[in-house]
This record gives sequence, structure tokens and C-alpha cells, in this order.
Amino acid sequence: MAHTQSWFPTLIHHAPLMREGVKSLNTELLKEIEQLRDFDRAGQQWSKTGYVGGYTSYGSMDRLHQFSSTFMLLEAKLNLHVRRYAKALHWDLRGGRLVMTDCWANIMPKGCAHSFHLHPQSVVSGTYYVRTPRGASGLKFEDPRLSQLMAAPMRSHLAPREQQPFITVPAEVGKVILFESWLRHEVPASTIAQERVSISFNYHLL
Ligand code: NI
Repeated sequence: MAHTQSWFPTLIHHAPLMREGVKSLNTELLKEIEQLRDFDRAGQQWSKTGYVGGYTSYGSMDRLHQFSSTFMLLEAKLNLHVRRYAKALHWDLRGGRLVMTDCWANIMPKGCAHSFHLHPQSVVSGTYYVRTPRGASGLKFEDPRLSQLMAAPMRSHLAPREQQPFITVPAEVGKVILFESWLRHEVPASTIAQERVSISFNYHLL
């Protein structure tokens, strides 16, 4: 056994949402999200300062899984992933359940970005990708120990991927990414003209 071992991993789940039917689900989700953008005046207003250049329903319609049967189907599929993720984390839920509390849509055109943040109050957060044109920005995560490294030297750019201070998980249509809500992440500015469409969500332990 090696004398230097690795401990305290940070788990990020990245998988296709489902085996079949993803195309028709995405067509329906995309239709509903585009309708939402056109009608959601409060959201358009909120996005002007909260999501510059793009549209998000985060500030106006953040419980889409409670209003649309399409989003309900998405929720049911995501629940399976969250269950698997909790198992991989070896969480003891003590009879509680991980429940989707927030679910909102994002449309990101060229120049739009979402800077580093975390999701306070929730336990698991994630994103599902509805439309990812070639060159769409991925989801960039920061090593959660970065703020505690004090005088530690920079890591070499030759360090293995899992030891780099940042990791970008690509945005891929039909795929879901799950992470613990305290893990800081960002979506770098989009450099492509076509819109990248995603759905973000939070789970609480209830
Ligand atoms: Ni986020």
C-alpha cells in the first residue's frame, strides 16, 4: 500500500437522465421554457440584473415541478439519480427523504455568465441539460479547500485532473450533474451565439 493516501473525496454525479425518451422530453421541456420566457414578465425583469443578457426563472417561477407535468416527469427521473447519489455519499438519512424544493429554467445566450456561487439551505443541487450547442460552457467547480490552503504552493498544471483546483464538467444534452449544495460552481460566459438551455434544482432533506 502506498504511504501517501487520498482522503475526503468530493463526489460529483454525472450521468444520462434516462435510457429512452430523452429526445421527446427535451422537445417538450424546450417548448415550455421558451413559452415561459415569452410570458414571464417578472422573470424577464429579474434576469435584467440577476442573469444579464439571458433569461432565468429563478427569481419568479422557481417551482416548475409543481406546475407542469413535463417537469414532474423530469423530477421523477431526477429523484432516482439523487437516491443513487445519496447512496454513493453513504448518507444516513435517518428516515428523512430528499425532496426537490426548487426547480427553475435558464436560457444562456452569448456573453451571459453565472459567476461563482453555492446554494445555501439545500443539500443536493444540480443541473439538467435541455439544449447544448457545440461550444456551450460547462459547469466549473472549485476545490472546496481552496480558501483554506493559506501558504500552500500553487499546484502544477501537470497535476492529475482530480488534484487540479478547478474541474469543468461539460454541459451535455440529456445529462444530469449532481453535487453537494455547498460546492462552489460557476458557468463561464458563453462565447457562442446559439442558446444553451438548462434546468437547475435543489433538494432538501425533509
Ligand atoms: Ni448554481
